[in-house]
Amino acid sequence: MVLCTLLLLLLQSSLLAAAAKVPAVIVFGDSSVDAGNNNFIPTIARSNFEPYGRDFEGGRPTGRFSNGKIPTDFICEAMGIKEYVPAYLDPKYNISDFATGVTFASAATGYDNATSDSVIPLWKQLEYYKEYQKKLGTYLGEARANQTISEALHMMSLGTNDFLENYYAFPGRSSRYTPREYQSFLAGIAENFIRELYGLGARKISLGGLPPMGCLPLERTTNIVGGNECVPSYNTIALEFNDKLKKMTINLNKELPGMKLVFSNPYFILLHIIRKPSLYGFQSASVACCATGMFEMGYACSRGNMFSCSDASKYVFWDSFHPTEKTNSIVANYVVNNVLSQFL
Ligand SMILES: *[C@@H]1O[C@H](CO)[C@@H](O)[C@H](O)[C@H]1NC(C)=O
Ligand SMILES: *[C@@H]1O[C@H](CO)[C@@H](O)[C@H](O)[C@H]1NC(C)=O
Ligand SMILES: *[C@@H]1O[C@H](CO)[C@@H](O)[C@H](O)[C@H]1NC(C)=O
Repeated sequence: MVLCTLLLLLLQSSLLAAAAKVPAVIVFGDSSVDAGNNNFIPTIARSNFEPYGRDFEGGRPTGRFSNGKIPTDFICEAMGIKEYVPAYLDPKYNISDFATGVTFASAATGYDNATSDSVIPLWKQLEYYKEYQKKLGTYLGEARANQTISEALHMMSLGTNDFLENYYAFPGRSSRYTPREYQSFLAGIAENFIRELYGLGARKISLGGLPPMGCLPLERTTNIVGGNECVPSYNTIALEFNDKLKKMTINLNKELPGMKLVFSNPYFILLHIIRKPSLYGFQSASVACCATGMFEMGYACSRGNMFSCSDASKYVFWDSFHPTEKTNSIVANYVVNNVLSQFL
């Protein structure tokens, strides 16, 4: 009897393990997870030139805002799928590649339409996703495509630009909303987006939280009165917003049958790296590797700049807004081990 129960349990858990497999990683968001979609739209928010990608396979700039891989590449690899998540708009790839992973993300975008004027807004990423589902249906057949969608890990990573490049940069939103109201406005958009994904068959969704955005080198550089320390008010906004998102995930999981929505929070691990860089083998967390490391990103972080560091793995940040590959790998590992492991 005991043996039978044991066998049954073993059988059940191996069935569960098989059923829990993730066949594809599907990504929405901003530059934290864009693998080059912006190369194919008219925008200056780009990074498809050296020294971006100098530690990527083949030393190749791809449009990823880092010296190498971004977190979703590491996560896709950890899921046992493949090494990179390709960009949907990149003509080098087609549905046979996208069937196991695709990113619709666009650097400089946000939840708010007003953040994403010149790039791919979140609603447009959803339109691309619907188009993708049709292609997937043709490629795999409807039944397998449906199954893939329901088992795929859908990831969302955005929101920093709404605050730093919109709310606190221009008067429009800040004259209309208090910071708290703006947080609620954005969280409402995130919630609707998740409901849309659910309606389209997605069941495994990771909602990414904000990083300690007051500690991005650009914000520290401009925090002159604060002695170039992290900007506490921006970190507080990130904490508050993350709290809202976390509560929302709890409610949606209760409400939507079969939903497995998780909140992937990069805040504390990143803050720990920034506060104790040497524990992780870094030498600098306050300035970035590229150029002077204080202001530059995108076109300002260009190959001709003689100030760029020689070993990016000594730096937490690659440019003034984006982590190095090494930081991305640590954060991705942390999220996989602590949150996404339930999908493995
Ligand atoms: C995708 O591209 C590869 C070559 O890059 C080609 O062999 C394959 O037939 C294409 N698949 C589809 C479904 O278009
Ligand atoms: C953003 O723009 C799209 C397309 O115009 C629209 O459908 C959507 O309602 C807008 N979102 C918000 C929150 O205003
Ligand atoms: C696939 O999913 C769609 C939308 O949920 C549904 O209408 C369709 O019947 C499904 N097809 C199969 C073969 O399961």
